[in-house]
Amino acid sequence: MSVSSEIYQKMLAQNEQWVAARTGQDAKYFARLSKGQSPQFLWIGCADSRVGAEEITQAQPGEIFVHRNIANLVVHTDLNVMSVVQYAVEVLHVQHIIVCGHYGCGGVLAAMQQDDLGLVNKWLRNIKEVYLKHAELLDNLPDEQERADRLVELNVIEQVYNLAETSIVQRAWQRREVNIHGWVFDMRTGRIKDLNVLVNDPESLHPVFRFKTGE
Ligand code: CO
Repeated sequence: MSVSSEIYQKMLAQNEQWVAARTGQDAKYFARLSKGQSPQFLWIGCADSRVGAEEITQAQPGEIFVHRNIANLVVHTDLNVMSVVQYAVEVLHVQHIIVCGHYGCGGVLAAMQQDDLGLVNKWLRNIKEVYLKHAELLDNLPDEQERADRLVELNVIEQVYNLAETSIVQRAWQRREVNIHGWVFDMRTGRIKDLNVLVNDPESLHPVFRFKTGE
């Protein structure tokens, strides 16, 4: 057996161990899990292998509806993220949406460089736009490390506003509470930093981004 297939088999073996552990604690665990979900959180995080939502928050299956992509972006023309947001808000009725970035994000670092990376250029362009919007602040920081860390934070904040600027979230606000939060995970310590950018009403937005959603 080659090394790579051993690694692959290990994943399936771990799944078997997990099933045994769960059913050992609670024989009806999977019967209950399969009945449906009612998570209170939508998580929009980075696809990075080190920042799994359930792992870093110790949430259980059924607690978080998760969408992850490179650099945790909310792009209005991306059918994938927009469909996730619509389903989470309109069907699952989540109360909290968390955008969670992380320091050392490869997507953010790549966006700060001039390398031509092919297709992914188009995705990273969204981060370059965030840089441009805050160029005065970022260009004046003393070094690349601080610029990168600050851009990670600013990118999260921009995605929080991108969510608030959807008609999906604004329609929901007419009827109930939806809180959008911005967090950054620091894998050097394991801790999550709350950026305290809670956005939960249309007054937080420039009028040009407010839809007439009155019913
Ligand atoms: Co990342």
